[in-house]
Amino acid sequence: MRTTLLRASLGLALLAGGLPVAQAQAADVQRGRQLFESRCGGCHSLDQNRVGPALGTVVGRPAGKQADFAYSPALSRATHGWTPEKLMAWLTDPEALVPGQAMGYRLAEADDRRDVVAFLQSLATGQPAR
Ligand code: HEC
Repeated sequence: MRTTLLRASLGLALLAGGLPVAQAQAADVQRGRQLFESRCGGCHSLDQNRVGPALGTVVGRPAGKQADFAYSPALSRATHGWTPEKLMAWLTDPEALVPGQAMGYRLAEADDRRDVVAFLQSLATGQPAR
C-alpha cells in the first residue's frame, strides 16, 4: 500500500518535472543577462554611456534623462518612466513608443524581451541575477 502511494507520487513528480510549460513562462534572468551582453552590449553598458545611455539603473528612471547622454530630441522630450511594461513596448518597437527616437534596434522575440527586462529589473530590485 505504502509502496503504491510512493510510486504514484514519484510518478506525479516526474510528470510535473517533465512538463516545460511553467519553465517556458517564467522569466530567465540569467538568460536575460547573456542576451543583454550579446544583443545590447554593442551599444549599451550598465554603468557607462556609450552609443546608447547606461542601463544599469534604467528601471524606474524617467525616459531620456540619464545625465551626460546626448539623447535625440524626441526621447529627451518623453514624459514616461521606464516601467517593465514600457521597456517591453520599447524593445518591441521603439519608434511606435517614441516617434523620432534614435535607437535603430528591437527584439523581435517575446521571450527575449521578457528575459532582458527581467534582468534589468533584477538590477533595480537588488535581487542577484541568477
Ligand atoms: C545599435 C545600437 C543600439 C543597440 C544594439 C541597442 N540600443 Fe538601446 N539605445 C541606443 C541609442 C542610440 C539610444 C538613445 C535613443 C535616443 O536618444 O532616441 C538607446 C536608448 C535605449 C533606452 C532608453 C534609455 C533612457 O535613458 O531613456 C533603453 C531602455 C534601451 N536603449 C534599451 C536597449 C536594450 C535593452 C537593448 C538590447 C536588447 C538595446 N537598447 C540595444 C542604441 C542601441
